[in-house]
Amino acid sequence: MKGIVLAGGLGTRLLPLTKITNKHLLPVYKEPMIYYPIKTLINAGISDIMIVTGGNHAGEFLRLLGDGKQFGLKHISYTYQEGEGGIAEALGLTEDFADGDKIVVVLGDNIIENNIVKQKEAFERQKEGAKIIIKKVPHPEHFGVPEIIGDKVVHIEEKPKKPKSEYAVIGIYMYDYRVFDVVKTLERSERGELEITDVNNYYIKNGLMTYDTIDGWWIDAGSSHDNLAHASQLVIKTGANKVD
Ligand code: DAU
Repeated sequence: MKGIVLAGGLGTRLLPLTKITNKHLLPVYKEPMIYYPIKTLINAGISDIMIVTGGNHAGEFLRLLGDGKQFGLKHISYTYQEGEGGIAEALGLTEDFADGDKIVVVLGDNIIENNIVKQKEAFERQKEGAKIIIKKVPHPEHFGVPEIIGDKVVHIEEKPKKPKSEYAVIGIYMYDYRVFDVVKTLERSERGELEITDVNNYYIKNGLMTYDTIDGWWIDAGSSHDNLAHASQLVIKTGANKVD
């Protein structure tokens, strides 16, 4: 299985912090934000990793991460997204890297207290399709929100005004080889992006989606100044990326 960290986009929600650097390079307590999603993949046993970066500060990723030696990796692959055409657009750039393998995708601003070892192993056993991870949150309207009937996710709505559940779809997704064909069928949303929620709804509609939950806290550290500060507090209090 291969791993992908999506760290494109312009991070305008964090201005002025992102005027002179990329949001994924901002500190979350002692480390740059992007360290955490990389460790999420490594802790799940994934060592073949591609980073999708973008914007004006892409060179800094290379300076910071190099060949990944500080994480015990032999190398890291990189690619570049022009503009901010959406999470699914960024994912589409990794098709050659994935080369038909199953992939685990982590958004560059998503940080977890624990790990995804169980979820990744379950996906390894899953013959085909995709897996999402959901988490109960106080404000689901800020996220992709799953509608759950019985024990099935029947649809996901992106940032709905009236959420149909108390859950968020977190920014860790697992896909089989067909995800890149799905991305090619997408149309831009109202915010001008190729939406990962549309990719996930394709898998749901075709009966190919499973879901898991996750223990411990989860935060999208890059979505607001408050979340960026809160992420540091959480890491100080409990640590992040804990292994069992
Ligand atoms: O954090 C989880 C949420 O992430 C999900 O619940 C939503 O369904 C999903 O759409 C996403 O929502 P956001 O609006 O918070 O995503 P954001 O635009 O903040 O992008 C998240 C990361 O994805 C960002 O840190 C870098 C990467 N990204 C984003 C865009 C728009 C790219 O690599 N390229 C892009 O063009």
